[in-house]
Order: sequence, then structure tokens, then C-alpha cells
Amino acid sequence: MCGIVGYIGNKNTSEILVDGLKELEYRGYDSAGIAILQDDKIEVFKALGKIKNLATKVDDSKFKIQNSKFSIGIGHTRWATHGKPTELNAHPHLGEYSYVVHNGIIENYKELKEELQNAGHKFVSQTDTEVIVHLFEFYFNQNNDADLSFAQTIKRLEGAYSILLITKSQKDKIFFMKHGSPMAIAKGKNDDEIFFASSDAPLIGYASDVVYLEDGVSGVATSSSLTFSTDVSWTTLPDSKQFAQKDGYRFFMEKEIYEQSDVITDSMMGRITDEEIIFDEIDSNIINGINEIKICACGTSYHAGLTASYLFERLTKVRCSIEIASEFRYKEPLLNKDTLFIVISQSGETADTLEALKMAKDAGLKTIVVCNVDNSSMTRVADTTILTRAGIEKGVASTKAFSTQTVILWMMALAFAKQKNVISQEKLKSEIKTLREIPNSLKVEDSIHEKCRRLSKRYLHGHGFFFIGRDVFFPLALEGALKLKEISYLHAEGYPAGEMKHGPIALADPELFTIALMPQHLHYDKIKSNVEELSARDSTICAISPLDFDLADDFIKTKPANHYMLEFFEMLIVLQIFSMEITVRLGNDVDMPRNLAKSVTVE
Ligand code: AGP
Repeated sequence: MCGIVGYIGNKNTSEILVDGLKELEYRGYDSAGIAILQDDKIEVFKALGKIKNLATKVDDSKFKIQNSKFSIGIGHTRWATHGKPTELNAHPHLGEYSYVVHNGIIENYKELKEELQNAGHKFVSQTDTEVIVHLFEFYFNQNNDADLSFAQTIKRLEGAYSILLITKSQKDKIFFMKHGSPMAIAKGKNDDEIFFASSDAPLIGYASDVVYLEDGVSGVATSSSLTFSTDVSWTTLPDSKQFAQKDGYRFFMEKEIYEQSDVITDSMMGRITDEEIIFDEIDSNIINGINEIKICACGTSYHAGLTASYLFERLTKVRCSIEIASEFRYKEPLLNKDTLFIVISQSGETADTLEALKMAKDAGLKTIVVCNVDNSSMTRVADTTILTRAGIEKGVASTKAFSTQTVILWMMALAFAKQKNVISQEKLKSEIKTLREIPNSLKVEDSIHEKCRRLSKRYLHGHGFFFIGRDVFFPLALEGALKLKEISYLHAEGYPAGEMKHGPIALADPELFTIALMPQHLHYDKIKSNVEELSARDSTICAISPLDFDLADDFIKTKPANHYMLEFFEMLIVLQIFSMEITVRLGNDVDMPRNLAKSVTVE
């Protein structure tokens, strides 16, 4: 997820662009850049890291906008999905005489890039974005018509994108297109300037009316006109930037829960067809000669790894073990070179996981990191990096990182199973069909959110929670317990449902809340009898299931699904929302709970 801004008018364009990017820093900041066109001159500034680094470059440069003179400009703050965070990969991307900023993923960029290179276009970056500006110039060099060239360009693009393009060939225009990634456009209060941004935070204070583009809407802006490809509706901007940065949600955590459906699409983009799973980053026969897959992580990432351990063994028929990094690094582990070592980390900086990775690397094992932050420490150590593309995760309680990690690992298990020829093409296609339904399973239904909000008032007062599940719903139970613990400060533990009778059931009483994960398509009868044992001992039970279950005191009905992993994601949403709503009632800081940090870079 990146942030883009644009401006047409006669104010200080560089200042407006840089300030706008600062308001979008919450969308990612591994690098940033702006391009400004005034008279015949184009100035481009790019910098790694936070926006303040870009601001310093602009301030220190000799380039000064001639105030009260007309200029146009575009800007971008990047969260890497294709290509390392470097100045070369930072946007705007340039052609001979045109510049583009882009948020999203161009799924067919490889074939476009090859076509353009064959036509003599020279590429300098590793990004998918660069194809846009070369494609535009490819057409403009033929027809000398910028509007037509832009229309031809966007017709060739596949994937998710919001684009701003400026060109010396049309010095008073900004071309724009929105498809799958957000874009807002606002008119200045004097109607003589136009503002563009990925969300409305940068627009507040400059404008009052805004249009939030729908998918498929493109157009061109000059200082005095805005032309859209379809009718659009204008609305009034919110007046709070803080509110805007959360896209209208109360907390970053809430925004990130609701984003999961979209970011999963980004995670899968370019990596899945109806017939196969493709990880360009992974050697095509990496799994051959591997006798064990060892996964290592901490916290929520560990829960994703534990979930994946079931899927890896079940699908690839290779033994899979899972380690908590802080334990692994001191247990003098036996490491064999025929083990594939996979670490999982949202931040890529967790000290224990990083150390475990280095131990495996030093022992000569093949290493993969599944990570959300490119250029983080772990991506620089592992042999292979798979980016989850969840976009920046601001809430300390991890949500969309977990769901994207789980999907990526499931896809890896399928890819390895195919490499080992232990999965039929029919089964693979069926699993791929299921993967494509995950965004729907992760959509937050209003009825579910409201049910969790209502139940939360009852679950404030227990002396403890058990979250129970079987198979992959056991790590999901662990994740649900962790979400509740870390933001509500109420005690909770995840437990294998089948283990309750080996001691913990002694705790069963009306004050003990049991959250039971009861999927229809995985050991339903087993989990049902575990819950009946607890109910018989008067534990207060909240059952989460697509099947009606009248022995529970409370019941949250999830959407029926035809695969247990879709039920998994349906229940994940419930657990995340449930914990958040309890926390809201308790008045805790949802985004920054006490004692915690977003990234644990110390032991
Ligand atoms: C999860 O909600 C917590 N914030 C924490 O457990 C986190 O998952 C853990 O610290 C690992 O972080 P990482 O994924 O960045 O390595």
C-alpha cells in the first residue's frame, strides 16, 4: 500500500506535495519522491526512508518554485511490493518526458516490460510501475495525442492501480486513473487549483469538496477544468486529519481488520492463476531434497506458522516442525542441511526470530522469510524473501499481517506439493478456487460486528477465557486469546479442545468463559463433544460456528463455507472484532496497548 498526491495551481507545489505525503506516511514510507513541472522545467526529488528525508532534499536544493506561477506536480510514498526500497525504485518513475506515480500492483507488468524493451525502451528500476510511463510514451510517440495515449495505456494495464501521470507534452495537465486502489480529488476553495491524494487526509485544509473515485474512473485535470470518464458525485471533506488517516475508522486496528479482504487480493496478485501458484522469488525445485520444513517465529507470526505446519505436512507430505524463536535459539537445536528453514515476521526486525534465522543460515540451511517490510533485517539475511504486501500495519495488535502470512504459507504449501508432484492438478485447482474466495470470507459483515459489540458488554467480567479449537483452529484459538490479552488485559489462553479434559476442565464454572471454534468441515463432532463436556460443567460458552448449536450460552453464526480454511478466516474476523469491542468498553488504547511495542527488537 503506497500513498500518492498531486497538485495543479499557482501555490508552492513542492511544499503542498511534501506536506501531503507527510499525511500519507501511515500508508508506507520506505522511500518517497516528487516531480514538479513548471514552464518547461521538470524537477524530480527522491529519498529513502521517512518523508522528512525528502523534505530536506527539497529544502536544500537550489530549485525554487516561482510562486504565483502555474505549476503541476505529483508525489509518492512507497511501501515496497516489487523491487527493493531504493532511490531508483522510488516513484515518480520517468520516461523521456513523462512521469508517473502509482499505488497498487500491475499484474501483467512482465509481459508489458518485455514488449516495451523489444520496442527499444530502457528500464532503470525493478518496479512494475515503470511500465506505465514507457507505455504512455510508446503510444504518444506514435500518435502525438496525450489524451489518446493515456487512454490506450490504461486499457493495457491489469491489476490494481491508482495513477497520476504528467508529461512535458501537455504541461498543464495531470492524467489520472483509479482501479482497485483509492484516489480522492478535491477542488481548491477558489476553484483555481486541483488536489489529488490516496486518502483525504492531505486534502483537509486546502479544499472543502471531494470526490472519491470509483473503480474504472479516469480523466484529466487542468487548473480550470476536471474531466471524468463518467459522472461523479462530490461530497464534503471530513474536518479531522487524524480521523481521515484512519479512513474513517475509530482505530488503526479497526481499519486494518476491515482492510484484510483487500490486502489479501494484493498478497495473491501475480502469484496465482486458475492452474498454478507462482512464486518467482522461490527456486522452482527448492523443495527437492528437503526432508523437513522448520518454521520459526514469535507471537502472532508464530500462530500463522503453527497453522501452516498443519497445511505443509498435509499438502507437501514433508515433515514440518514449528519453533518459538526465543526457545529455539537457546536449545542447541539439531540443524540438518536437508531442512528448509522458514521464518515469519511482520516487521522483519524481531530480535529472537532474526537470531534464529542467522543460526539456520550459518548452519547452511536454505532460508525463506515471509515478511511485510522489505529491506528489513530479516530480508537482508534470508536467501529468499516473500513479501506479504499487507501494507503498513500500525496497530500493535497484528491483524492483517496474520491473515496475509497464513494465505502466503498456504500458497507455498500448494506450490511445494506441486513441485513434489504429490497433489493432483484437480485438487490444486480446487484449492486455488478456495483461495480466491478468501477475500469474501474476510469481509466484515455488519451483523457480525454488531453481534460482537453487543456480546462484548457481557464478557468484560469473567475471571478468565479459554479459546479452544482443534487442528488449525487450535492456532487460531491461540491467536484469538492473544488478541484479547494484549489489548483488553483480560487473562485468556488458547488450548487444544481435546486437551481440556487433561486438567483445564477443572476450571469450568459459570465465571469461566469458553470461546469455542466449531468449524463444520473439520472434526465438528469432536469439537462438539468437547464443548458439551464444558457445558455440562456449567462453563459459560460462546460458540462460533456456521452450524446452529443450542448448548452454548452465546452463539456467533459465521457464513457457511465449503472449506475449513474459509471457516478459519470467517472466525478470525470474529475473534479480532470481539477483542476490539471488549477493549473499547474497557476504555483501553486499542492501537497502543500498555507494555507492548510494534516490533520487539530486543530479547
Ligand atoms: C501480535 O499482535 C503482537 N503484536 C506480537 O505478538 C507480534 O506478532 C510479535 O512480536 C512478532 O512480531 P513480528 O511478526 O514483527 O516478528
